[in-house]
Amino acid sequence: MSKFSHLSPDVIEMLDLPVNERATFCKTDRWIGYTRATQILNQLNRLLTHPKSLRMPNVLIVGRSGNGKSSILERFCHWHPIQITPSGTPIAPILRIEMPETPDESEFWSTILWNLGISHRERDPAPIKKREVKSTLQYAEVRVLAIDEFNNLTNAGKIAGDLLAAIKGLSNDLKISIVAAGTQTAINALNSDPQMKSRFEPAALDRWQLNHEYLRFLASYERLLPLAEPSNLASREIAPKLYGMMGDTIGGTVKLLKAAAVQAIETGQEKITSKLLDNLDWVRPGDWEEVARRV
Ligand SMILES: Nc1ncnc2c1ncn2[C@@H]1O[C@H](COP(=O)(O)OP(=O)(O)OP(=O)(O)O)[C@@H](O)[C@H]1O
Ligand SMILES: [Mg+2]
Repeated sequence: MSKFSHLSPDVIEMLDLPVNERATFCKTDRWIGYTRATQILNQLNRLLTHPKSLRMPNVLIVGRSGNGKSSILERFCHWHPIQITPSGTPIAPILRIEMPETPDESEFWSTILWNLGISHRERDPAPIKKREVKSTLQYAEVRVLAIDEFNNLTNAGKIAGDLLAAIKGLSNDLKISIVAAGTQTAINALNSDPQMKSRFEPAALDRWQLNHEYLRFLASYERLLPLAEPSNLASREIAPKLYGMMGDTIGGTVKLLKAAAVQAIETGQEKITSKLLDNLDWVRPGDWEEVARRV
């Protein structure tokens, strides 16, 4: 067995880098295909091959903040990039946008246009922008419109229903599927239009539990951290500690692992230990109130 069998082969090379470069590598986002993410991605892939029909199926990815929604959308887009046909026409299977913070219809169409790289006058009336959106989506053969931060729809107040109707109209006219992603409030956003809601299948990202799947995630992540010695993150000593610190979202666990790995590199310990975690300069989410009181 090689000395660095706890690392994936491309990470072993990173061990020779200077400390600051190794630390930067630790902070870079990585992708691990954990079971639930793979299931949801399969669900999304099925939308791309769904025949164009009167009622196109939609998916709502829902989960708390930091639990991997945007990362799944990013992965989905990564798998289905824009392609250019030999005649020079672009084919974009997926268009990904973010729902504006306090959206109205005009801003929504502008967001799509900017994401398509189309400059336009923001002050143009909504119907003009909408026409341009439709023709461009058709031209680029977009099959799925992915809308992140769908929960922002609830900030639209009374006009949320109109926006939802606009999205439904777009899906009906072009026969494209909608993939929305958002926190729990995204479900409320759909309540104003039961017909639209019935077209959505929920894809929930539950809170993580300290179970086999969590241990598997830790073991996979360890292979991506350029530390010279094994930390055995999935061990009985370390895993419950990591979980207890911030384990119920994937983002919490990853943030913690990145910080711990950087510290292990900078202090020369070369592995994440229980003691290192105890001494980590780390603000737990609940500690913010304490911080606010102190300053
Ligand atoms: N499959 C994955 N493999 C490795 N790390 C991941 C994965 N998914 C998410 N992460 C990590 O978790 C962090 C939070 O994920 P993400 O931004 O996707 O959450 P979110 O649900 O969109 O949060 P928010 O609701 O706040 O937008 C990411 O920055 C990334 O570091
Ligand atoms: Mg997000």
